[in-house]
Amino acid sequence: MNPSPPLLDVRELVVRYGAAVAVDRVSFTLRAGETLALTGPSGCGKSSTAAAVLRLRRPAGGEVWFEGRELTRLGERELRPLRPAMQPVFQDPYGSLSPRQRIRAAIAEPLRVQGRWDAVTGPARVAELLETVGLDPAHGDRLPHELSGGQCQRAGIARALASDPRLLVLDEPVSALDPSVRAGILNLLAGLQERRGLGYLFISHDMALVRHFADRTAEMRAGRIERIV
Ligand SMILES: Nc1ncnc2c1ncn2[C@@H]1O[C@H](COP(=O)(O)OP(=O)(O)OP(=O)(O)O)[C@@H](O)[C@H]1O
Ligand SMILES: [Mg+2]
Repeated sequence: MNPSPPLLDVRELVVRYGAAVAVDRVSFTLRAGETLALTGPSGCGKSSTAAAVLRLRRPAGGEVWFEGRELTRLGERELRPLRPAMQPVFQDPYGSLSPRQRIRAAIAEPLRVQGRWDAVTGPARVAELLETVGLDPAHGDRLPHELSGGQCQRAGIARALASDPRLLVLDEPVSALDPSVRAGILNLLAGLQERRGLGYLFISHDMALVRHFADRTAEMRAGRIERIV
């Protein structure tokens, strides 16, 4: 009995930049509620793998199955309704928000773009998302540079959650943060996963962190997964 397909099933993924092969036949699966870490030295292909999974870059080969659907053959239009379900969280919290957009508007934007904005429920949803990530309502009125790095990363997570994702692709989500605020963000992510059953593809070069945070760890080197432990 194997009722549901994995959340994410990546098969023999290949990513090329010109003639250079950055990701060389990488395969892994991820279930809802599970964290798979991708780790390995700089340049080994972690972010390229993430970009291909999120289809920020079209893979040169292989398959990406998300909730039982193969994505690599889908065009942009067919992909659009699926995009909200898979959201990125990047390393630089300021870089992932628009510098002149207030936090409240940044969190509201996915709701508006996806046609889910409503004058009554919209603001309430934004307020709820701020609270979910541990920000005060007043933080919603600020610009990104008026927040600390940790607060800004929380705002980025709130914006990702506005799309009701099932998969978060987290590319070094705490690496740019002061060590003193990392644990708070990781606790937030752990709690969100537990309550919402989110799947995390969690990229980090920090082996100690990965061992503590991930259910399984894929160790990459030179574009290949050497082992998954
Ligand atoms: N846009 C690009 N154009 C050309 N080559 C690229 C591009 N992005 C990445 N690469 C190359 O692809 C390989 C994999 O890079 P990638 O960014 O995926 O590594 P990474 O594991 O995320 O490294 P880091 O830990 O430094 O973030 C590297 O050799 C890199 O130089
Ligand atoms: Mg990277």
